[in-house]
Amino acid sequence: MKVAVSQTEIPEIDADLLAVGLCEDEELPAELAGVRGAADAQGGFKQLATLHPEAPARVLVVGLGKREELDAERLRVAAALVAKEAARLKAASVAWLVPESPEVAALAEGIVTGAILGAYRFDRFKSKNDDEPPPAALESLTLLGPESLAQAAEAALICAEAQNRARDLQSLPSNVATPSYLGRRAREIASAHPTVSTEVFGREEIAAKEMGGLVAVSKGSAEDPQLIVLRYAGGGSGETLGLVGKGVTFDTGGISLKTPGGMHEMKMDMSGAAAVLETVRAVAELGLALNLIAVIPSTENMPSGTAVKPGDIITQYNGKTVEVNNTDAEGRLILADALAYAVEQGADRIVDIATLTGAVMIALGSTYAALISNDDALAAEVEEAGRETGELVWRLPLHPEYKALTKGTVADLTNASAKRKAGTIYAGSFLEEFVGETPWAHIDIAGTAWDVGRPYTGNDASGYGVRLLTAVARAFAS
Ligand code: BES
Ligand code: MN
Ligand code: ZN
Repeated sequence: MKVAVSQTEIPEIDADLLAVGLCEDEELPAELAGVRGAADAQGGFKQLATLHPEAPARVLVVGLGKREELDAERLRVAAALVAKEAARLKAASVAWLVPESPEVAALAEGIVTGAILGAYRFDRFKSKNDDEPPPAALESLTLLGPESLAQAAEAALICAEAQNRARDLQSLPSNVATPSYLGRRAREIASAHPTVSTEVFGREEIAAKEMGGLVAVSKGSAEDPQLIVLRYAGGGSGETLGLVGKGVTFDTGGISLKTPGGMHEMKMDMSGAAAVLETVRAVAELGLALNLIAVIPSTENMPSGTAVKPGDIITQYNGKTVEVNNTDAEGRLILADALAYAVEQGADRIVDIATLTGAVMIALGSTYAALISNDDALAAEVEEAGRETGELVWRLPLHPEYKALTKGTVADLTNASAKRKAGTIYAGSFLEEFVGETPWAHIDIAGTAWDVGRPYTGNDASGYGVRLLTAVARAFAS
């Protein structure tokens, strides 16, 4: 999609649709006040009204609610509603009058993000059907506002398109988006950007590195597992931010097999990997001044004659031993190796992101991801990035009593306990064993990776994490 900023006056606008946000108890711009339908326009949040002025362009008024509640998130929602209405009206170009506000750059970000995410569809596997032609795609968005918005608009475009690509990766079925497919995606990103390099290791190299978690989880699968490492050299202070994303391309549960209902959703158990891959590309496109190392352990989790079995004991990359008492708690095993590897490779701070526990859905639904961290400053940065982007996080505690739950009977640790206490924190406490003293934040996105239900995410793959992680990287860079 093309995004531009323009100072064109309303009567001269050349777009299929003009979108105007209206706050409660405020007036439409003078040029629109007398237009047919103007009296129907309401400021109540999410209310839509179509106006038909004399000019060729249609006008869509979207209510923004109370002025004092106006923020980027409201504009994301409003712009997504406008994008859906534009598709219905077959409008390929939309001009958006950016509301005047001291926070005008944040509002412009909200409009661009909401329009691009709201216009997203995943229909590449649908056959063409002449009786039901696909809805028109939104091709161009013009922000009507000060020239100074150009930078914010461009950055929002980069991030939102990255998020849509992450949604594509999530939505692709596991017979297409295999670990090798993710590895190829990493190579593509690296070859398109001179600042990005990649290394992709397969089964034998992973075994040679003695990454016992990734070896164990991948043992039951015919697909080659991949350890994907991306490095971005953007300079800056010299510190390196580590990103780690869970890349289970299908999670059957393994020998601790899941029940069939909803199992197909486990094609999205690589949502953390998708977020990390596309964050690296977004950071490279933005040219942020920092160094980044991204580590993605990727595999299927399958039951078979060669699969890891409950009770098996493995040795992780940092030497700690783990009783694999539940083969469905596989994410923590592969992340453990990846976290230890990121530390060894020189990450100064690490953020990991993973569809790790069903328990997080019980605790926080699809509104907040869980945040668990050993470092208050890093946790605060992630929380701030969440408020900025609308990709919200809620911090859960660590405590020695939770840590005690993770102790093994015959090995150092166990990956799951029969007592199903504090499942999300259990997993976080387990991961903490693999980062040493490095400041680390863990984001559990099992509730937010899909089925979020906001107008700009819909109920399918949300691409959660791309804008959040990019905001964390931006804070790290400055
Ligand atoms: N990938 C799942 C977590 C998940 C569940 C993500 C539902 C999205 C939706 C993870 O590998 C898993 O199976 N976790 C288990 C852990 C348990 C066995 C300790 C869970 O949450 O049930
Ligand atoms: Mn599992
Ligand atoms: Zn899983």
